[in-house]
Amino acid sequence: MEIAYFGSFLVLIFVSSVLGEQIDSLELKCLVCEASIEEMKEALGKIDPSSLIDVGGYQLDENGNYKSSKVIAKSKSEIHLSEVIDEICGKMENYVRATWKTNGTLTLLNLLDSAGGLNSKMSEVDIIQDSDLNKSLLHYCSSIMEENEDEIIEYFQEDNVESICSSIGLCRKIQSIKEDL
Ligand SMILES: *[C@@H]1O[C@H](CO)[C@@H](O)[C@H](O)[C@H]1NC(C)=O
Ligand SMILES: *[C@@H]1O[C@H](CO)[C@@H](O)[C@H](O)[C@H]1NC(C)=O
Repeated sequence: MEIAYFGSFLVLIFVSSVLGEQIDSLELKCLVCEASIEEMKEALGKIDPSSLIDVGGYQLDENGNYKSSKVIAKSKSEIHLSEVIDEICGKMENYVRATWKTNGTLTLLNLLDSAGGLNSKMSEVDIIQDSDLNKSLLHYCSSIMEENEDEIIEYFQEDNVESICSSIGLCRKIQSIKEDL
């Protein structure tokens, strides 16, 4: 009787710590997704909007010269988007996990601001020390990008960027799990 009681107590501890870790990693995936999409937006924003590339074949025009049959903005080209996706996770090297001092909510903070200086928001957060974190953020980013590359490319081509992370199920899932608990 006592042993059974003790046993279920242990099971309870085990289940709640596993659940806790799952929520943590889902929340982290959502944050990593949002941070990587922001980084993609920034990288693509640096492309000259007038820079065009040819996709899909050439045709002969009426004078017998080759003309491109389809030209699109470089920032919308699948090849270029795919290149950006391949490189974007490197940006995670500058990110740390932290909690806002005001409300304790988990966040990812880029240690560097856009000018390459220290992020001024650093004083507003408590950084979570974690020696493996560096690798895990990069790992989450790579798996998000690998698993969702086609959709992410489509969303960027359609200028439908704001909802990517919930559309691919990474951010909405957390809410539903939290509601279930
Ligand atoms: C993460 O690791 C890279 C390479 O090992 C290092 O250059 C970078 O400073 C690290 N970033 C953080 C936030 O620790
Ligand atoms: C926590 O605080 C930060 C900054 O003060 C804010 O950006 C964020 O939205 C807040 N989160 C919640 C859940 O209130």
